[in-house]
Amino acid sequence: MAEKIFLSPKHSISLSLSLLSAAFLLLPALASPAPTPTPAPWPAQFHSILFINSSKGVLQVTDLWYDWPNRRNFNIIQNQLGKKLYDLEWGNGTSYYYTLDANKECRTMHFAVGILSPNWLDGANYLGQVDKDGFLCNVWEKVDFIWYYEDVATKRPVYWAFYTGQTAHVMTFEVGKVLDDPDWQAPVYCFEETEVNTDALESEFGFPAHRSLIRGVLPSIHSIV
Ligand SMILES: *[C@@H]1O[C@H](CO)[C@@H](O)[C@H](O)[C@H]1NC(C)=O
Ligand SMILES: *[C@@H]1O[C@H](CO)[C@@H](O)[C@H](O)[C@H]1NC(C)=O
Repeated sequence: MAEKIFLSPKHSISLSLSLLSAAFLLLPALASPAPTPTPAPWPAQFHSILFINSSKGVLQVTDLWYDWPNRRNFNIIQNQLGKKLYDLEWGNGTSYYYTLDANKECRTMHFAVGILSPNWLDGANYLGQVDKDGFLCNVWEKVDFIWYYEDVATKRPVYWAFYTGQTAHVMTFEVGKVLDDPDWQAPVYCFEETEVNTDALESEFGFPAHRSLIRGVLPSIHSIV
């Protein structure tokens, strides 16, 4: 026989009050579960000046011209008191690395991958917030290859670091800025069959973590693109 339980009015009021307060306690959590921040996609076109410290402590100032609609990317790299190197990357996989000095060095390379797409940070792991270079940043990590810091207030990148130890501080971030077409032309000696000394060129480039980022050539970052 089922036993019937009668609650006195007093009991039922206190019961519904406690249910009510329990509901109120749960409500904020249910109504606004704090969403995990996601990185802003890269603008389709932008210009950035990057202050780069290679894993070997070599300092560089790099002009980064990212141009996704035209499937091209340009890194113009000034080594501290050293060579200025041009790293021109096309979406069809061809890259030209050259100087524009009297040495006329150029090296052409072919890759199986194109240019990194604007949403390449999709799926990155959120690590939380830290203060970086004086900016409060959200931080993500992607495939143990890159740690990416984005300004909470403006959603602009502030800094990134590669697993190699190479770091980049973002000094300017000009959305929509495009380099004029003629400046994307590799010099004529890149198209000559002459033998050039590329050893010096290679060593000046150092470990190519940065250009690997845009190219996505490292095996570990392959899954990014
Ligand atoms: C560059 O990085 C090295 C460590 O890899 C560090 O010792 C050095 O202080 C850095 N230089 C600058 C200017 O940040
Ligand atoms: C890729 O595009 C560039 C620029 O148009 C061109 O110079 C290069 O020859 C092309 N490479 C291939 C493999 O088609």
